[in-house]
Amino acid sequence: MHQTVHVELGERSYDVEIGPDLLAQSGSLIAPLLHRPKVAVLTDENVAKLHLETLRDGLAAAGIEMTSLALPAGESTKSWPHFERAVEWLLAEKIERRDVVVALGGGVIGDLAGFAAAVLRRGVRFVQIPTSLLAQVDSSVGGKTGINAPQGKNLIGAFHQPSLVLADTSVLGTMTQRDFLSGYGEVVKYGLLGDAEFFEWLEVNGPDVSAGDMAARVRAVTRSVQMKADIVARDETEQGDRALLNLGHTFCHALEAATGYSDRLLHGEGVAIGCALAFELSSRLGLCSQEDPSRVRAHLRAMGMKTDLADIPGDLPGAEALVDLMAQDKKVIDGQLRFILARGIGQAFVTSEVPRDAVLSVLEDALTTA
Ligand code: GLY
Repeated sequence: MHQTVHVELGERSYDVEIGPDLLAQSGSLIAPLLHRPKVAVLTDENVAKLHLETLRDGLAAAGIEMTSLALPAGESTKSWPHFERAVEWLLAEKIERRDVVVALGGGVIGDLAGFAAAVLRRGVRFVQIPTSLLAQVDSSVGGKTGINAPQGKNLIGAFHQPSLVLADTSVLGTMTQRDFLSGYGEVVKYGLLGDAEFFEWLEVNGPDVSAGDMAARVRAVTRSVQMKADIVARDETEQGDRALLNLGHTFCHALEAATGYSDRLLHGEGVAIGCALAFELSSRLGLCSQEDPSRVRAHLRAMGMKTDLADIPGDLPGAEALVDLMAQDKKVIDGQLRFILARGIGQAFVTSEVPRDAVLSVLEDALTTA
């Protein structure tokens, strides 16, 4: 059941190992990277309780010693104070230039630990061990690292590729169903942006993925990672094609900002709703058939996911205010909003040529039915 996806980036290439019980095998998988049998692990307090001892045992099985720092769980950890604490801890632990830092956690820990590794002694290697579905299929692969600024999310950071990613699909069993389905929003995104067959497979097998079928989970994570790896290999620093990974994200960022980045809307939930809106917009612009947005919404609904604006609890601002929030997205270039639209399921493309009125009308209608 174990799969390997290779991310081809020349001398920065690496493998993503995907399968059950990889924490227990972490020692033998990480050992080839080490110059001495010691690693420093950054994690969060929740993940530490669930998985740190399994990791410690897995490393010890290969004679590797582990030292660890558990930061508070939550998005507010992706900030200067916690970043400073992590870097100073790594220095206090005498982590050297040839050592390896391990990120054990979800996207927050992966981004923060990766950024700490990027700047520590001008760059040390790091291993991602993502423990959420979202981190396994998205944030742990591709080398985007960083923290949030008071001015916005992910505004401080670096491209720093990991040396290895261990996506242990067993640990997904400890996620809440809401968090799991939020990560599934990013899985669906891959089918929608570039692989209609994968989307069809998800329409049939999504319920098994959600229910915990391990073979289905491995297949869903592997196909997602393969697609991300291919796109990152073509465009590591997002000069072009990598923006395809932002399907649904322009709408999502406005909705996240409108809901205060709170529990009202998790990131992957916003991505799922954003994908449905991006297909609605594509259909209204005559790019894809009217059936496509209905099919997207039908799958999200069948999975028990947030699908429409009405599924977001509480009030939302009006359409004009939401479009203004989109304009604050950091991916705006020369004041031009960039959208990922689609000519059909699996056929996304990047464009700046979207009339504001078309976006407004999609949002107005979506808010009316909310
Ligand atoms: N999460 C989008 C990217 O890695 O480019």
